[in-house]
Amino acid sequence: MIRRQFLAHVLSAAVTSLFARSAFAQHDAHSMHKMSGMDDMDGMDMSDMPSMSAHKAVKPAAAELAAPDALPAGARLATLRSLANESREPGVFRATLIAQPVKRKLLPGKPSTTFWQYDQGRGQGGATARAVQTDGPVIGPLIEVREGDTVEIRFVNRLAQASTIHWHGLPVPPDQDGNPSAPTPPGGSHVYRFTLPLGSAGTYWYHPHPHMSTAEQVFRGLAGPIVVRAADDPLAGWPERHLFISDLKLAADGTIPSNDMMDWMNGREGQFVLVNGARRPRIEVTGDERWRVWNGCSARYLRFSLGSDQRFAQVGTDGGLLEQPREGLTELLLAPGERAELIVHAGAAASEAVLSADVYDRRKMAMAGGSLPPDRAHVLADISFKPVSGAPARTLPAALRPVPPLGAPVAKKSVVFSEKMDMAAMHGAKPAGAHGGATPAGMSFMINGQVFDPSRITLTSRRDEVELWSIENRTDMDHPFHLHGTQFQVVERERGGVVTPEPYRAWRDMVNVQPDQIVRIAAVQRMAGARMFHCHILEHEDLGMMGTLNVV
Ligand code: C2O
Ligand code: CU
Ligand code: CU
Repeated sequence: MIRRQFLAHVLSAAVTSLFARSAFAQHDAHSMHKMSGMDDMDGMDMSDMPSMSAHKAVKPAAAELAAPDALPAGARLATLRSLANESREPGVFRATLIAQPVKRKLLPGKPSTTFWQYDQGRGQGGATARAVQTDGPVIGPLIEVREGDTVEIRFVNRLAQASTIHWHGLPVPPDQDGNPSAPTPPGGSHVYRFTLPLGSAGTYWYHPHPHMSTAEQVFRGLAGPIVVRAADDPLAGWPERHLFISDLKLAADGTIPSNDMMDWMNGREGQFVLVNGARRPRIEVTGDERWRVWNGCSARYLRFSLGSDQRFAQVGTDGGLLEQPREGLTELLLAPGERAELIVHAGAAASEAVLSADVYDRRKMAMAGGSLPPDRAHVLADISFKPVSGAPARTLPAALRPVPPLGAPVAKKSVVFSEKMDMAAMHGAKPAGAHGGATPAGMSFMINGQVFDPSRITLTSRRDEVELWSIENRTDMDHPFHLHGTQFQVVERERGGVVTPEPYRAWRDMVNVQPDQIVRIAAVQRMAGARMFHCHILEHEDLGMMGTLNVV
């Protein structure tokens, strides 16, 4: 494998073993106390390594992280704020979203933390803003719209850098999709306009997509949920709960640190996993509920579980409802960027459960080659089931809606993920810039052998043609594949020559691809123009694991 080779010709064997031992010793401890002293070498104190001391000068300062219990826990789950519709015309949703710095008091006795977040506003362009003090969740306001609606959102950029809004998963025209080629400059504004077709009901989100700074803009707080509703939703009467999961890496001084080398290599994972912006909230379930869950993390895989004896059903994926509920689940893996609709049952008697993200080994890389142990399990929320006696029992319909097969493909596309690490260049890299916008040298994440180049078309598709895409992962770690502009269907997954047909049909815009796996999907693009496809580990996207699909 490419990863296994990268070190050999750069470092001596002695240094290699020193690296490996040190990395694993630190990791075995699994203690945040130890990790809080970590630097860009994932917990290795490089001053202990004489042969590496020459690099000390260029090593970015270590960010001491806040303790993993530094944020308060146990508050009632916050309700996501909604983006109000300013239009009175039926079928038109109109609003303004401002991306701006805000300050929020997070750590007692420390200065406020500056986030970048989306807020509703009536502002025009013209100025970048100083951070204003707020409280409440960082998550951007929920955009709730209906199939058939025309959506018109004015984006006001009050950041000090260019940005876009990308409507992740929605079938919007290519020139309205916030592509990196169409940035709104600092102080500028831009109106996005699109109409949502019938059949587009589902669970989506919005986030920035500027060239090479998507990761930073998202980890500083820019992301928000979208729900598109259908007039004939078979679950319309069900009480609904929204859980937007995000990840926060917070320094002990209350600042949000830039990406370090390990963040760039494996994708950033913070010490906090937040639900609707808060650590470990409390959720009370008094009757059966429909949950929409977003994995809004930059790189964290969420293997959801309510414990081994709390079963739930999955009723929807990214692009809306399944044909029938998948009952009796005890866990569900959501890759970064992925969403799901679940049915959570209150049960017959009062009980308690913990919503957790269980251990998932996505084969993160160690600097010395080989893999790091997976991250520990994270508690996401505490759930009390308090079924109200006499409450009307809800029956989940056996059939939800048809998900017709896309039909026989008439064209094929091939996407290959690969990576290349040049240790010499990585160690010679200059520290990241003030805002962490600079990307490290020596790390390449590629599609079809090339890093992203905005001037190059990677693949070309014809409008309305069903295509079979094969996405092959020739790296040693998982990468979540995402295609803009359409929902696709996973057809089959192949590993070691064994082909497993997908057990059920679903509309998705995300699919995880494990090392040495080939995932085949059926997809069709309905509108001409440029579409992006990429790994949704946002650091990998910024480092070049992205391509442009030209639809003609
Ligand atoms: Cu959610 Cu191209 O992104
Ligand atoms: Cu997208
Ligand atoms: Cu990736």
